[in-house]
Amino acid sequence: MAKLKSAFFCQHCGYESAKWLGKCPACNEWNTFVEELITKDKSEFQKQSWKETPAHGTMKTISILDVKSSEEKRIYSSDQELNRVLGGGIVPGSIVLVAGEPGIGKSTLFLQLGLQLEGIRTLYISGEESEQQIKMRADRIQLVNDDFYLLTETSTNIIFQEIKKLKPDLVIIDSIQTLQTPHVESGPGSISQIRETAAELQRFAKETQTPVFLIGHITKDGSIAGPKILEHMVDTVLQFEGDRHYAYRILRTMKNRFGSTSELGIYEMRENGMRPVTNPSEILITQKEDQLSGIAIAATMEGMRPMLIEVQALVTQSVYGTPQRTVTGFDLRRLQLLLAVLEKRGGFHFGMKDVFLNIAGGLKVEDPSIDLAVLCALLSSYEDTPLHPKICFAGEVGLSGEIRAVNRIEQRISEAEKLGFDKMIISKYNQSNPKEGKQKAPKFNIEVVPMGKVEELYQYLF
Ligand code: TYD
Ligand code: MG
Repeated sequence: MAKLKSAFFCQHCGYESAKWLGKCPACNEWNTFVEELITKDKSEFQKQSWKETPAHGTMKTISILDVKSSEEKRIYSSDQELNRVLGGGIVPGSIVLVAGEPGIGKSTLFLQLGLQLEGIRTLYISGEESEQQIKMRADRIQLVNDDFYLLTETSTNIIFQEIKKLKPDLVIIDSIQTLQTPHVESGPGSISQIRETAAELQRFAKETQTPVFLIGHITKDGSIAGPKILEHMVDTVLQFEGDRHYAYRILRTMKNRFGSTSELGIYEMRENGMRPVTNPSEILITQKEDQLSGIAIAATMEGMRPMLIEVQALVTQSVYGTPQRTVTGFDLRRLQLLLAVLEKRGGFHFGMKDVFLNIAGGLKVEDPSIDLAVLCALLSSYEDTPLHPKICFAGEVGLSGEIRAVNRIEQRISEAEKLGFDKMIISKYNQSNPKEGKQKAPKFNIEVVPMGKVEELYQYLF
């Protein structure tokens, strides 16, 4: 007999409780519990007990030696950025969660993916938009594909019926928050619905070896349980991010059972869909005629990929009592630290100045090697002297003003060289590796200047 039961779920982390709680014991969020109805078969509960489980039927457990190692036949899309973040194409039977804020371009990207895959029967299931709206979007993207099918439905029962008829090679769900299974009583978007519908889709993916993409919305602070609670269930988690006011979008791998998690794809939102950006450095450095002060180029790594990024700083006399520090795309505390280093080690008086810092293109950089470029941009603006236009930087700055080594220096140098830079300033500790140090010089067609201290750097530049 099916028995109606309800429980309280934290909408932030998915913690389940029999009674309402003000504060979630798992994630410490306040006022996040919502009652949800769940239907559970009582007899199923009893079956779970060890003693009462009868030992009949054939054995399901098998030796690992009996498992056939299958040759992975990945699906490759013509979008190299997506292939890369997935670890080299779409794995059969994989379930991929794509999370991002509303309006960032998830529907556009995956509609575009489906329309690009020729000879792969793709089913795009939308619970958010009508067929006409999707068609309008497809017209905008200007792609046609007769292997692409649409379904506007939210009930998993009907979705699975349609899937059985169509037998697609790839399923895209837009979005998981709109799906609803009749086995759970609570409304769509609730924790128990999301968990159950995702589990049904996961079983479908594994049993039929059909890859499934789940699109999920998150809010500005990256929360609202939905997608969060799915992270452990899915094979891959991709995060789609970017500033809505800028055209660039980043698709970042947060988890991947089939590849590296440090991958990243860059897209540009155009009038006619998302354009993969295969050469990010060129767009991230503004082409400028005259030299301006306060600009420095950093040779950073985003995942496994070297990228040259422009750092812009503006240092002005403070008008009000408390000087302002404003950053875009960089950690504010990190900036304060760098300013303190400059104040203490170099005797620059930033205490009386307003400081604005901006990373071009609306990117958010976490690689600490950008420190050196930030510091040089600050100095350049402070001195109101432009830096040499063909110079770039890679180094982390320590509290005592030392320039610290960064990883993958060779890749960074060769990227800078490729983009026509003449000089690159790195940490002297990057050179001290006796094995590489000696042979490095002739290999690159760029002057690599090792530096140990911030003071040295200042003398070198100004
Ligand atoms: P959308 O894919 O609907 O976002 P999500 O599914 O993540 O909520 O993208 C919505 C935005 O993208 C919207 O502001 C319009 C813009 N857009 C373009 O700039 N170019 C295009 O070709 C398309 C289809 C949308
Ligand atoms: Mg959408």
